[in-house]
Amino acid sequence: TVLVVDFGAQYAQLIARRVREARVYSEIVPSSMPVAEMLAKNPKAIILSGGPSSVYEEGAPQLDRAIFEAGVPVFGMCYGFQLMAKVLGGTVDNTGAREYGRTPLTVTRTGSTLFEGVPAQHSVWMSHGDACSAAPAGFTVTASTDVVPVAAFENDEARLYGVQYHPEVLHSDHGQQILEHFLYRGAGIAPTWTTGNVVDEQVALIRAQVGTKRAICGLSGGVDSAVAAALVNKAVGEQLTCVYVDHGLMRKGETEQVEKDFVAATGVQLKVVDAAERFLNALKGVTDPEEKRKIIGREFIRVFEQAQAEIIAEAGEHGESVDFLVQGTLYPDVVESGGGTGTANIKSHHNVGGLPEDLQFQLVEPLRKLFKDEVRMVGQELGLPEEIVQRQPFPGPGLGIRIVGEVTEERLDLLREADAIVREELTAAGLDREIWQCPVVLLADVRSVGVQGDGRTYGHPIVLRPVSSEDAMTADWSRLPYDVLARISTRITNEVRDVNRVVVDVTSKPPGTIEWE
Ligand code: XMP
Repeated sequence: TVLVVDFGAQYAQLIARRVREARVYSEIVPSSMPVAEMLAKNPKAIILSGGPSSVYEEGAPQLDRAIFEAGVPVFGMCYGFQLMAKVLGGTVDNTGAREYGRTPLTVTRTGSTLFEGVPAQHSVWMSHGDACSAAPAGFTVTASTDVVPVAAFENDEARLYGVQYHPEVLHSDHGQQILEHFLYRGAGIAPTWTTGNVVDEQVALIRAQVGTKRAICGLSGGVDSAVAAALVNKAVGEQLTCVYVDHGLMRKGETEQVEKDFVAATGVQLKVVDAAERFLNALKGVTDPEEKRKIIGREFIRVFEQAQAEIIAEAGEHGESVDFLVQGTLYPDVVESGGGTGTANIKSHHNVGGLPEDLQFQLVEPLRKLFKDEVRMVGQELGLPEEIVQRQPFPGPGLGIRIVGEVTEERLDLLREADAIVREELTAAGLDREIWQCPVVLLADVRSVGVQGDGRTYGHPIVLRPVSSEDAMTADWSRLPYDVLARISTRITNEVRDVNRVVVDVTSKPPGTIEWE
């Protein structure tokens, strides 16, 4: 393991990802963790992340000198670099000389461990107020900028390295190369961490955790729960039952995808609960978005619990108990809810409304150390179909929050048709990876006049909401090619009954959310 010590802001997660991209396993620990505890994890190397503080600020995170004296290779970046300089007796000044953004760097020692083979002049991403003016004793200065004389240093004998900038961001040229030089050359770690290893390791862990007991897993149709289920299935397939609640608000072909493709690829035991009628009844007459969400969430939990009780009763007949619940919690959720110490509380973020808090289960969370793109790779490794592994986000409440107005069976059918056309055309145009997702919304309470054939029509508009995003927190509207929009528009108005107008939503987030409700 390589430990990434988190000094705040978002840098640590990015560094952890980059280390894994170098095929070395990494884990994030909070900077408040005692050094003895870090060392007890037997790390092969330690990386000190950047952070928002100044080393001289009151209450700024500090570091015990012992971390540099344990013989473990350490790489400090930005704040981590300055802390390293200060703790080891170098000079860090609050010079008022700030550097932000892309900055030219001059490598002054080309043969150094970090900068071997890297051009002497290149651009890096800086973001700092304080600056190191003298390296600690025993260190060689390896790079500088116009503003800071000591922009990088290393002590090869002690295997301690540091750079003032952020090699983990894409704006830093050769950043990944420098990180790899630290890992492979400085710390002598071999790049052996692969998706195949992850699968083997998790399968062993799941077997150890679950033993001979039974487990259940809720499938939502999304990537995370599918990959979690597939992993547990590979480990203890005989003891696992998956539950898929069909609330009737899925898109065309989605339930079948889970029922057929997922089962075919994994051989998992699946219980599909057809609850469409129940959801439609509960949604009758409801138009308020929040009320819709609450109703869907509540009904979902009821149906899930009922299915669960049935599975437990059936298992009980064979004298077995169901002790485990599989969840597709990801690493960012774990880090964000508790700093990655492994004791984080579980957020109720899965499926529709989140599962109830009083569930009497132990959790099996085989993805809690993985990032989303790694989850997709594990899914691929497990042989899940591309359509499941590369699936774009889809909200738990489904089409229920994409019909502005009351949800009825007729309207759902209509929206399903329009949505299927949009997905077909976007896929045909090769745009699936480029756009984050494209909600298709039916304005069921709006009508406009049109003309079709020789007659007047009075139909509903369909809204396309294509967005690009990295994390759904913010988004921009996607500039879809006009010919693709034209094909979608023609097909929807020709093929979908009662729709006589197609419009495109050109609002970013903020101010608009991605979904309309
Ligand atoms: P908004 O509309 O808030 O959506 O910009 C952000 C992202 O979250 C998805 N979304 C949901 N996902 N349950 C989910 O699992 C929900 O209730 C839900 N509501 C929105 C949305 O599709 C987008 O990717």
